[in-house]
Amino acid sequence: MNKLLKLSLAVLLLASVIGWYQPNLIQISTKQIHDATAKFPILVSFFKWFHGSKESTPRSEDDKAKADPDRVFTKEELAKYKGENGGDIYLAMMGRVFDVTRGRDFYGPGGGYSFFSGVDGSRAFVTGDFKPEGLIDDITGLGDQDYIGLRDWLDFYVKDYEMIGKLEGKFFDSAGKPTEYYYEAHEWIKAASGHKEEEDLFKEKYPMCNVDYKPEEGSRVWCSNKSGGVSRDWVGFPRSLYSADSKKIRCACAQEADLNDSLLKEYPNCPKDATSCMLPK
Ligand code: HEM
Repeated sequence: MNKLLKLSLAVLLLASVIGWYQPNLIQISTKQIHDATAKFPILVSFFKWFHGSKESTPRSEDDKAKADPDRVFTKEELAKYKGENGGDIYLAMMGRVFDVTRGRDFYGPGGGYSFFSGVDGSRAFVTGDFKPEGLIDDITGLGDQDYIGLRDWLDFYVKDYEMIGKLEGKFFDSAGKPTEYYYEAHEWIKAASGHKEEEDLFKEKYPMCNVDYKPEEGSRVWCSNKSGGVSRDWVGFPRSLYSADSKKIRCACAQEADLNDSLLKEYPNCPKDATSCMLPK
């Protein structure tokens, strides 16, 4: 079956399960998608069909000894390692070259992710654009979520595979020294991680309310020890929470000490110490 069709089917199925199980995972990176599949073993079996299911071959100690993390590959050299005729498979992630031969199922000829082999396709890891023009090492202008996704992918390759060199190009020069772009890219990732941390803290401070909707009565919002995916030892009071530019509004559970925050507004016809409010129809 056509790969794009398979991927679309896979995304649809997983999105509906995640949406049902935890609506807060709406903004997810591809690495988180994989982590989520770990929670649903049945899905993993299903996606084995999507990714193919050949046995992987562990690297020999001899091969490991040959690896030199300071080796500098040119793009042409790297392109030779696509696993053809049983040969080794290398890929680059943000300029670092990894030996992924062990993952032949995924990266070898006919594997679900063979397009990543022999190239630095970092951008495609977060855009999902697996066409040749999408498989590039330019990661300029991506969103915070994408930079976090790339950070997670790099961590993944460092942890699960062996780094066997650097790729001469955007991230490293011909002597293997980090380029200006390397430092810039790492700043983008650092900034994105910082924003994510702030966002997570804010979500813990103002968790989303629980919501009930009945056509005849309308919507009820209420707070409890666990709402918006945040388990806590306080309940809180439902308030409208405005974004700093007032463009977005959502219901948040706020603790007494925060009730004077100018971003919060009481719901009309709801006592200020109520933990449940009916919204105007
Ligand atoms: C931008 C989209 C995606 C990218 C870049 C991507 C990338 C990858 C890569 C590189 C691997 C191999 C990891 C390894 O070396 O061990 C992998 C495996 C896997 N991916 Fe994806 N993937 C994407 C979308 C998805 C989606 C949408 C799903 C499920 C809905 C999915 C489910 C899986 C599963 C289950 C495995 C493990 C397969 C197995 O155990 O046979 N992936 N993915």
